[in-house]
Amino acid sequence: MATGRPFELVVFGASGFTGQYVVQEVARVAAEDELRGSLRWAVAGRNREKLQAVLEKAATKLGKAELKSEVGIILCDVSDPSSLANMAKQTAIVLNCVGPYRFFGEPVVKACVENGASCVDISGEPQFLEGMYLNYNDKAAEKGVYIVGSCGFDSIPADMGVLYTRNNLKGTLTAVESFLTVKSGPEGASIHDGTWKSAIYGLADQDNLKKLRRQIGHKPLPVIGAKLKRRGAVFYSNELKQYSIPFMGSDASVVKRTQHYLHTHLQETPVQYAAYTTVGGIGSVIKLMFAGLLFLMLVKFSFGRKLLIKYPEFFSGGYFTKEGPTEKQMEGSSFEMTFFGEGYITGQDPEQGKPDVKICTQVRGPEAGYVATPIAMVQAAVALLKDKSSLPKKGGVFSPGAAFCNTKLIDRLNKHGIEFSVISKPEA
Ligand SMILES: NC(=O)c1ccc[n+]([C@@H]2O[C@H](COP(=O)([O-])OP(=O)(O)OC[C@H]3O[C@@H](n4cnc5c(N)ncnc54)[C@H](OP(=O)(O)O)[C@@H]3O)[C@@H](O)[C@H]2O)c1
Repeated sequence: MATGRPFELVVFGASGFTGQYVVQEVARVAAEDELRGSLRWAVAGRNREKLQAVLEKAATKLGKAELKSEVGIILCDVSDPSSLANMAKQTAIVLNCVGPYRFFGEPVVKACVENGASCVDISGEPQFLEGMYLNYNDKAAEKGVYIVGSCGFDSIPADMGVLYTRNNLKGTLTAVESFLTVKSGPEGASIHDGTWKSAIYGLADQDNLKKLRRQIGHKPLPVIGAKLKRRGAVFYSNELKQYSIPFMGSDASVVKRTQHYLHTHLQETPVQYAAYTTVGGIGSVIKLMFAGLLFLMLVKFSFGRKLLIKYPEFFSGGYFTKEGPTEKQMEGSSFEMTFFGEGYITGQDPEQGKPDVKICTQVRGPEAGYVATPIAMVQAAVALLKDKSSLPKKGGVFSPGAAFCNTKLIDRLNKHGIEFSVISKPEA
């Protein structure tokens, strides 16, 4: 990875709703023992005043007046390739917070690869993530840079959670189901409409994702052990005592890419995976069904998409807002992702007989979008900087699990409030 550059990290899109919290997280982490005094970093974006305001806000909130003078400022616009090249040349790693990634992400990846910078992003958009693999994996490997997408709440908890489950099962893990539960406090919860927009355009473009996967041409992973049964569109989870539905985010596709990498490059047994989210009682199921059907209908047409984008609050029942969550809402919110894994005790051939060992693990953390996401993104960047010898030998375009499976990322996350634990010991 590039050394001898003015900065180790640059936060691009620092003036965005999420970007501002990534800046605050970098400022916190820069003051910790491992990095104190050695981390040179900058913020980047297209408007100097906004970037200065973000640094001022972080300085006041964290009581670190020095941020205003010590953190660099780089002016950079996605529509100006030379400004992107200039940013990429100045740093070892870009933390890219400019989305929707399907519109703004590729020029940043291109500039990083061409100019020898690694890049982490917080995209939850499979079309973008897999498109970057198709277009830049070989070039990134040649340049020795690491392009690691989906390093936010999408999809670090799920991807690293499956690896944690595997590491804690004494035997061969063959299948995992995860259940996400999001909790909010008395002030409720909300999500900034930047994520709403990314979801709308992503869902509208499912056909292109299929085309893209045909171009990538990965063979389906072999099913080892008992085949994981798919649940219905809505079902009652006896384990969590709530109704649940398939999770629509990028987790399943990201975990699949990691499992593909581990199987083809490290000859590991691929783990089958399904992602679900709990929704509560029957009243919530009915509300969600109506909202979901309306959303899926509107998202198909350009006029419908315009409506969804113009009125996020109305169409999401107040959940997505142009203002984003308040600090109080964020303080009161948290997530839990529970993993139910099954496999075969050491020595037992997964090709023969039923799974004979089970395990339950959990990843829990603070508010997902703007507290856990900055923690995950910044720790992914720190793992790139500090755990270099444990990264894949050559660079490339990776999912988080592929890039970080041998690094200390899980320990790092544990120390920063995203906690991995074994809930029930492996039992036969
Ligand atoms: N993985 C997760 O769980 C997770 C969590 C949170 C967010 N996200 C993703 O993060 C992305 C950002 O979300 P957000 O809510 O923070 O959105 P946002 O507030 O709209 O921020 C977008 C940022 O992009 C910048 N930008 C837009 N066009 C640009 C251009 N041409 N050149 C340079 N910068 C440009 C904006 O700069 P200006 O300030 O100058 O307009 C702003 O800083 C979305 O894709 C969202 O889905 C993911």
